[in-house]
Amino acid sequence: MDALKTLLERVSAPQLTGPDVTETQLQTLIQAALRAPDHAWLRPSRYIAVQGEAREALGRIFLQATPHWRELSDEKQRKLRNMPLRAPLLLVAVCKVQSHPKVPREELLLSTGAGVQNILNAAWAMGLGAIWRTGDLAYNDQVKQGLELAADEEIVGFVYVGHVNCRLKQAPQLDSADFLTKWTPKS
Ligand SMILES: Cc1cc2nc3c(=O)[nH]c(=O)nc-3n(C[C@H](O)[C@H](O)[C@H](O)COP(=O)(O)O)c2cc1C
Repeated sequence: MDALKTLLERVSAPQLTGPDVTETQLQTLIQAALRAPDHAWLRPSRYIAVQGEAREALGRIFLQATPHWRELSDEKQRKLRNMPLRAPLLLVAVCKVQSHPKVPREELLLSTGAGVQNILNAAWAMGLGAIWRTGDLAYNDQVKQGLELAADEEIVGFVYVGHVNCRLKQAPQLDSADFLTKWTPKS
């Protein structure tokens, strides 16, 4: 698909289904992510693919990492457990927040965020749907431990990828004039 058309038309897909994302598609998504700008080429980002039955194991981690989960209704527990099943592929975008004399923490996280955006656009360009989600579980230490993150790694997003299973909204037509000013110095 034309690159500009993808950038201008992509929307998130909240409902996704099979068939599975192919290995070739997965590799393309990761290659796109790895083209994100990266100050000093520190390579702060990595991506964990959760597919197939591994999604059920992650669902159990999501449930048991939720504070007071035993007190939740069966329906709420099922909802938490089933979260990773919302798409055939879940990519956990991880940022290594290492200290560097020239690259502040924010720039590392932004770089991983740019990687996620590249994944969303690459998925769209390949005719797949995707959505970037976070929520409390992205910032939960038990989830980080369950996914075997190092102490200096953060979850930037859970990117759900699959085949679109809903009516997609149209990309809103926003007026650039509301978001763009042309600065001129005061004399
Ligand atoms: C950092 C980040 C975290 C997000 N977390 C969630 C989330 O947990 N749940 C959700 O429904 N949408 C979340 N969103 C929003 C969706 O990814 C999406 O951007 C939004 O639904 C608007 O859709 P659009 O991308 O088609 O404009 C998040 C977006 C960002 C940038």
